[in-house]
Amino acid sequence: MLPLAVFVEAFAAPLAIPTVEIAPGVHLPMAGLGTWQYNSSVAEAAALTALKMGYVHIDTALGYDNQDGIARAIKSSGRPRDSFFITSKIPGGLSEEDAASNLTLALSQLDLDYVDLMLTHFPATWTGEGGKAMRQAQWRAMEQFVRAGKAKAIGVSHYCKSHVQDILEIATIKPAVNQVQYHVGMGPLNPAGSGDNATDYKEYMSSVGITYQSFSPLCGPCAGTDHLELITGELVTSIGKKYGKSGPQVALKWQVQSGIPVIPKTSNPKHMAENIDLFSWTLSDGDMHALNAATKPMVAGDMGPAGVPVSGDCPVP
Ligand SMILES: NC(=O)c1ccc[n+]([C@@H]2O[C@H](COP(=O)([O-])OP(=O)(O)OC[C@H]3O[C@@H](n4cnc5c(N)ncnc54)[C@H](OP(=O)(O)O)[C@@H]3O)[C@@H](O)[C@H]2O)c1
Ligand SMILES: *[C@@H]1O[C@H](CO)[C@@H](O)[C@H](O)[C@H]1NC(C)=O
Ligand SMILES: *[C@@H]1O[C@H](CO)[C@@H](O)[C@H](O)[C@H]1NC(C)=O
Ligand SMILES: *[C@@H]1O[C@H](CO)[C@@H](O)[C@H](O)[C@H]1NC(C)=O
Repeated sequence: MLPLAVFVEAFAAPLAIPTVEIAPGVHLPMAGLGTWQYNSSVAEAAALTALKMGYVHIDTALGYDNQDGIARAIKSSGRPRDSFFITSKIPGGLSEEDAASNLTLALSQLDLDYVDLMLTHFPATWTGEGGKAMRQAQWRAMEQFVRAGKAKAIGVSHYCKSHVQDILEIATIKPAVNQVQYHVGMGPLNPAGSGDNATDYKEYMSSVGITYQSFSPLCGPCAGTDHLELITGELVTSIGKKYGKSGPQVALKWQVQSGIPVIPKTSNPKHMAENIDLFSWTLSDGDMHALNAATKPMVAGDMGPAGVPVSGDCPVP
């Protein structure tokens, strides 16, 4: 038996959520809270619930238009700054000057001295303008932001191999993370050796030391009924029964057990608690194989070369 004082201290500390080191001394939690499509008031309520529950990572973006809500949640939580990790993003396709002003704006909306991780949201503008020169210009502004102490680490999102190569050509600080769509159903699209056309090319990212981080881990924006496949679908729920866990927990566990950090979105406290209860149990090799082999739900995106579905990121010029 632990002495009571030790027990109370351990219980009051933030939950032990494992991390991955994405840059020297920067530890990204393996599970966090997504906030895309939440307005400021929903984001505030969800982030406050999460921070009180012991979440240690919240993912937002300038483009989500909810960072003022996240700022209020952080203040009301009373949590010390070094007990949580914040990721933000600025749009892609910006000049060095516009990138610098967007970075300043993102940080001021959060009302923080620094973010833990700042990403460039897309390899170009949302309509595809920018190209290599803008990617490189924007990266220079991102590096300045780190040097000024305003981000602990910087990274990219929706980047394919060629986009990453543009950055590596000029980088003095390498991207720490590539945040891309990844969920059960996409395993066969991204096997070892699948090459440049694979969905955001997981194998390449790890070969150059960039942490591959999953967005939409539960296929939230997937088309038709696909978005239910990882909530109530047969594969994840039947596996979950063996462990006393829900379908979404199995879908998330498949990723974290493969070393991929996740940021599921929910504003429901019950779901929120489930989504970080991932670290005290282990999927069997057989169940991991079945999840690796799953071909649905399909990636949300377009058909690529040879009728293979892709995330739609790789054709961005
Ligand atoms: N970099 C980018 O461009 C990019 C793109 C997309 C997403 N993201 C990030 O990734 C985050 C997550 O992706 P997402 O928002 O697209 O969708 P998601 O997390 O894949 O799915 C969200 C949906 O799953 C449901 N859900 C979550 N946990 C559940 C549980 N335990 N049981 C049952 N249902 C559950 C939620 O409904 P309830 O509210 O009812 O729980 C919600 O409808 C985003 O919020 C954002 O932060 C980034
Ligand atoms: C934010 O979204 C919620 C849920 O969709 C809605 O009820 C609320 O009115 C919205 N708030 C604002 C200020 O738009
Ligand atoms: C941010 O980038 C946009 C271009 O997307 C630019 O018009 C704007 O001036 C930049 N700065 C701020 C503070 O928004
Ligand atoms: C990738 O797609 C291009 C067409 O966009 C094709 O020419 C090439 O052969 C493909 N590579 C692989 C490895 O499938």
